[in-house]
Amino acid sequence: MGQIPQNLIERVRETSDIVDIVSRYVDLKQRGSNFFGLCPFHSEKTPSFSVAPSKQIYHCFGCNNGGNVFSFIMEYQKVSFPEAVKSIADHYNIKIQLDKENIKTELFSSLYEIHELAVKFYHNNLFSQNGSEALSYLHNRGIKDDIIKKFKIGYSDNSWNKLVLHCKGKGFTKSQILKSGLFTQSDKGIFDRFRNRIMFPIFHSSGKPIAFGGRTLDQNEPAKYLNSPETPLYKKRNVLYGTHIVRDAVIRSKHVILVEGYMDFLKLYQNGIKSVLALSGTSLTELQVTVISRMAQKVILLYDGDNAGCNAAMRAGWIIIKGGLEPLVIQPPEGMDPDEWIDKVGKENISQKINSPDSYLDFHLNFSNSSKLTGVDRKNYIVDMAKELKGVEDGIIRNEMVRIIAKKLKIEEEDLIRAVKTQKVIKSYANQNEMQETPLFFSGRLDKAQLELIKILAGENEKIKKYLMESISIDDFPTPMLKKLATYLLDENLILDSSSIIEYFQDSKERDYVAKILFDEFDNIYSEEIVNDCLKILKSEPIKIQINDLRIKIREKESRGEDLKEELNEINSLRKILNDL
Ligand code: CTP
Ligand code: MN
Repeated sequence: MGQIPQNLIERVRETSDIVDIVSRYVDLKQRGSNFFGLCPFHSEKTPSFSVAPSKQIYHCFGCNNGGNVFSFIMEYQKVSFPEAVKSIADHYNIKIQLDKENIKTELFSSLYEIHELAVKFYHNNLFSQNGSEALSYLHNRGIKDDIIKKFKIGYSDNSWNKLVLHCKGKGFTKSQILKSGLFTQSDKGIFDRFRNRIMFPIFHSSGKPIAFGGRTLDQNEPAKYLNSPETPLYKKRNVLYGTHIVRDAVIRSKHVILVEGYMDFLKLYQNGIKSVLALSGTSLTELQVTVISRMAQKVILLYDGDNAGCNAAMRAGWIIIKGGLEPLVIQPPEGMDPDEWIDKVGKENISQKINSPDSYLDFHLNFSNSSKLTGVDRKNYIVDMAKELKGVEDGIIRNEMVRIIAKKLKIEEEDLIRAVKTQKVIKSYANQNEMQETPLFFSGRLDKAQLELIKILAGENEKIKKYLMESISIDDFPTPMLKKLATYLLDENLILDSSSIIEYFQDSKERDYVAKILFDEFDNIYSEEIVNDCLKILKSEPIKIQINDLRIKIREKESRGEDLKEELNEINSLRKILNDL
């Protein structure tokens, strides 16, 4: 690991403010002494992600993710500890030099570095002799050089190993190279995945490149687009093309225009319509809706003007509604993509459309030809609607939609409500794997007693803390993680606050636990009596276990008719110890 001197780490930690750092990525609102927002680590509609400025730690009550300012950046940007320190130091203008060679051993850093190399390599290539055909292709499609540069668009040669050679000798391991997703492997060796393609780098919202989409220049190539596979950096279901650039524009305009393709995105952006994001060949996921919900509440679907585009918009609408946002729709003329449409009618016309989009329900009813449906088709359509409505958790939105749909379909509201009630919920499967399994939390008597004592040690009631420290030894803590935590709190030479303790835990699961424990409010109601009770539990529990074991032994011996004297004596003396506690 790249070594940053401890005093410098401390300086960065003390200079930084967790609310300041987190609010760069999460919209935080103050409630009481803490701040709350939508968790960036799992998909949710009501805020359970909370930040405690007094302790400089965060904890999500939904997914149990937690930590301090460094672990937040580590988890959010998927970087190593030294890089997180460096990133925060940069923010506060504290100078830190990282030793590059050391850092490269970290997987994420190396993957970012490979991508950064590739972005530059392809981009330079586009403006070289080799890229002239690709460059004129882009020019012919109306993409200007400033946009090409802003989005670092590039070109991959029609060669098998140019990028392989470019990455050689730069200190990457074979495994890092393969995990980047930019190469393929066969028994003949490692080759470039992308050949003879316009390369659209895909960026993380922090601005780091994490993947590519490549459009072929070869008319006969069957795969028009080839995208990076899923890699440790690139999880398709929560990435949208353009987030790193358009964030502020989206927040300002309070809506986002969602398009299907890179070209559509670039054309709109180039024409000054900047609150736009693009999918990259996937259908819209719940997590992408969560990403959008942090910037805006309205999503204007501007999909291709063909059947496929309409069907995709039909599906996307429900996902947006279920995510608590409002979908709206604009349709290009039949057969046209947004990128051609804007060329044809100009940006003013498109802007006008954006200012008065159709409601999603109108679009749904029209596209399904609902007014002309009869008999079983009509019934099936109503049932399909009811199924989707059943999945809308927000009662206000659901009721409102029931009212509108019933009216438009000319059915009784009660009938539709009944139909909704009898449907099974359509399970959204998109992000089931995303939720971490809820960690089993310390719940037994023994764990609870240890937790109480830890809270006293971490709290501010000095008198009771002193009393406890005099009566306890570290070996009284039987649960390893809690013991470790207590060790730091009991060590008088380490004067640690909640936020710095977290750095002693390298495992991210352990960090989550520790943050959860430290996050709790520590009231000062503790009395010596509570301390005594807890200590009693800690000391008595191991004895009780011993007694129980002896009982089992006695029963076994009894059945064999053996002498029990020794065990009975032992039990008696243990009972005595218990009573004297
Ligand atoms: N896409 C993909 N794989 C494909 C086709 C499309 O990943 N085989 C994705 C790309 O991100 C593309 C988007 O879906 O940008 C929209 O597809 P399409 O409309 O077919 O592409 P266009 O953007 O119209 O491509 P172009 O205008 O360059 O022909
Ligand atoms: Mn197109």
